[in-house]
Amino acid sequence: MSESTIGVGLIGTGFMGKCHALAWNAVAATFGEARRPRLVHLAEARADLAQTKAAEFGFAKATEDWRALIADPEVEVVSIAAPNPFHAEMACAAFEAGKHVWCEKPMATSREDARRMLDAQTRSGAVAALGYNYIQNPAIRQMEELIAGGAIGAVNHVRLEMDEDFMADPDAPFAFKNGASSGYGALDDFAVHPLSILWRLAGPVASVMTDQAKPYAAREGRNVETHEIATSLLRLANGASGLLVANRAAWGRKGRIAIQVFGSKGTIAYDQERMNEFQLFTREGDERTQGFRTVLTAPVHEPYGLFVPAPGHGLGFNDLKVIEAHELLRAIDGRESRIVTFETGFAIEETVHAMARSHEERRWVDVAP
Ligand SMILES: NC(=O)c1ccc[n+]([C@@H]2O[C@H](COP(=O)([O-])OP(=O)(O)OC[C@H]3O[C@@H](n4cnc5c(N)ncnc54)[C@H](O)[C@@H]3O)[C@@H](O)[C@H]2O)c1
Repeated sequence: MSESTIGVGLIGTGFMGKCHALAWNAVAATFGEARRPRLVHLAEARADLAQTKAAEFGFAKATEDWRALIADPEVEVVSIAAPNPFHAEMACAAFEAGKHVWCEKPMATSREDARRMLDAQTRSGAVAALGYNYIQNPAIRQMEELIAGGAIGAVNHVRLEMDEDFMADPDAPFAFKNGASSGYGALDDFAVHPLSILWRLAGPVASVMTDQAKPYAAREGRNVETHEIATSLLRLANGASGLLVANRAAWGRKGRIAIQVFGSKGTIAYDQERMNEFQLFTREGDERTQGFRTVLTAPVHEPYGLFVPAPGHGLGFNDLKVIEAHELLRAIDGRESRIVTFETGFAIEETVHAMARSHEERRWVDVAP
């Protein structure tokens, strides 16, 4: 294979599959990367859909057999954008074939599968990234820099909320995400995202106390097996206290990930529904005019300027995936990178498993080291 290109395979073409396809199409033009993705092979559950999507997204080959895609010698990196229960099987097969992997979150539906994925990756020596796109936002990157530089002093409390309303309607039909095979529900569907951001802003969680809730017990006469709501008290490894709430049944909330980080000298606040800005309060200057100020992202917040040269015009959700693709390519080339590795991803999985155990046993639980 040419050093200046990389062969891409994509599994799944729904919400995330299209997002990956757009990112693979845009990454070279946006970043001027030396490596240009070659869209080699696309897999979907049905052959006709695979053909249609391959033509739309620009992939050369299409298949209904994802194993054929992984076996394709032209495929060097595999995007896994299929539903959660497939992640472990697909990722392990890709590692065995020596391919790099870009896998959607959550890593897996069980701790054992996530462990298997991490072990397979370690054995293969391939690069693996998880789809924690929100950490790629230039606003989050700036918040990280501010906190690391001491702008708000020592972090002593964090508050994280992730809310959407796609499960809010009690009369909505039974969906895949209502079944136990998809995982816990709000914990591994949602909580993992704010946890990935928290990891960057204040580090890992040491112990948790969690309550899960199921507002609607049945849909279309079938028992709902997952929880739409999870509320967790947190104790971080750095000693800070915290609160994390995830709710998939929160009417009116469309893509809220509200983060507040409180420190000894100030506060930083962010909401994904207004992803091109964050709020900063510091105790500097005249007390009579102190207050939160809004920082709008701009070309000074890398890599914003590679998308748009004008400040305040804003990036969108799909742009975060383009940045994630670029970070993955950097990691493949052995350069410093902001991907969420399988190692960090596994630690995030350990955190949600500890949360589920806490709910079950109705007590504080330490996150496994
Ligand atoms: N990173 C994020 O912000 C984010 C957002 C949404 C979903 N996700 C994750 O992305 C993954 C996919 O979610 P989605 O919302 O795109 O789902 P989706 O239902 O929109 O798409 C899944 C696609 O996978 C296809 N598929 C199913 N089985 C397959 C198989 N055996 N081979 C090939 N294709 C198969 C389906 O036909 C469908 O087109 C999930 O793990 C989800 O948690 C991540």
